[in-house]
Amino acid sequence: MKKITKLTEHTGIEVPVICGPMFPCSNPELVAAVSEAGGLGMIQPMSLTSVHGHEFRAGLKYIKSLTSKPVGMNILLEHAFKKYQHRMDQWIDIALEEGVQFFLTALGHPRAVTDRIHQAGGIVYHDVVGRGFAIKAVDAGVDGLVCVNSNAGGHAGRKSAEQLLEELSDLGLPLVCAGGISKPAEAKKMIDAGYCGVQMGTRFIATNECTVHPDYHQAIINASADDIVLTEKISGVPVAVINNETVQRMGTKATGLEKKLLRHPRTKKWMRMFYTTQSMRRLPNASKKGGSYQDFYVGGKSVGGIDEVISAGEIIRQFAEELK
Ligand SMILES: Cc1cc2nc3c(=O)[nH]c(=O)nc-3n(C[C@H](O)[C@H](O)[C@H](O)COP(=O)(O)O)c2cc1C
Repeated sequence: MKKITKLTEHTGIEVPVICGPMFPCSNPELVAAVSEAGGLGMIQPMSLTSVHGHEFRAGLKYIKSLTSKPVGMNILLEHAFKKYQHRMDQWIDIALEEGVQFFLTALGHPRAVTDRIHQAGGIVYHDVVGRGFAIKAVDAGVDGLVCVNSNAGGHAGRKSAEQLLEELSDLGLPLVCAGGISKPAEAKKMIDAGYCGVQMGTRFIATNECTVHPDYHQAIINASADDIVLTEKISGVPVAVINNETVQRMGTKATGLEKKLLRHPRTKKWMRMFYTTQSMRRLPNASKKGGSYQDFYVGGKSVGGIDEVISAGEIIRQFAEELK
């Protein structure tokens, strides 16, 4: 029997598990494998194009050649570069034309895209870390919220999954739990508590289909939850990474000058641009070249529950079994 939740109804998937969008780890084969197994693979457009080298529409067609099941797409709304903003608008149109119906917005204000996506029959969920952002997203007309908690890989939240559930339940939207999950029993606990599904990132990096360097897989397998530290050096706001020599050498705190520049409205934009340029170069290198590149690996506390590389389909099957 399938597990039916608001998330499965909104997306047409069979198992309420999302493989969260990941720059630079969302290669098309991973996205397709998750969807083909009954979960929801999420396209990260920058990852698809700049890292994995697909022209956007051709990349979507390639994913569609691997699975006929639903896939979703990530929309990053806060752009340092005007050119990128224009490109994101085009990508949304192309995705809608190619049949993508589920969109996950992050970082900015979803009002910029909700009407357009709804008119085309699509669904919009928004990434939130607390009530303030959630209320803005509700006002913008989103259909659901992905609640990013303090255990998440990437841009981590500050609150626990339980705190977010308590804080956001009265808003009347379906809530997806993102952060800290690697085992089916953890997902079941969250869904029993009131979430309509889970989103995992780190667990899906350690899969056969994710084409990162084997050193990245190994770093996830070797790490325990205590090895995850937050660094402001990647994007100016805390990003969860696996602690290693590079992270220690870089330090984890933005300098006084960086903080000052990030606060000022005029210089903030330039700082963001600087960070974007840096991470566009460093993150793909680390994920593709491994330890030989002496770099860092983005990942969350769920590393503690990951001890082998398996197929993405096997992960979805294990979660389906637990959640049925
Ligand atoms: C390497 C990495 C890159 C990520 N990149 C993005 C991104 O580009 N856009 C986004 O919305 N979330 C991004 N995330 C967040 C994930 O989609 C997901 O919410 C998060 O990984 C869940 O926490 P977990 O890693 O504990 O499973 C990223 C996470 C990781 C680990």
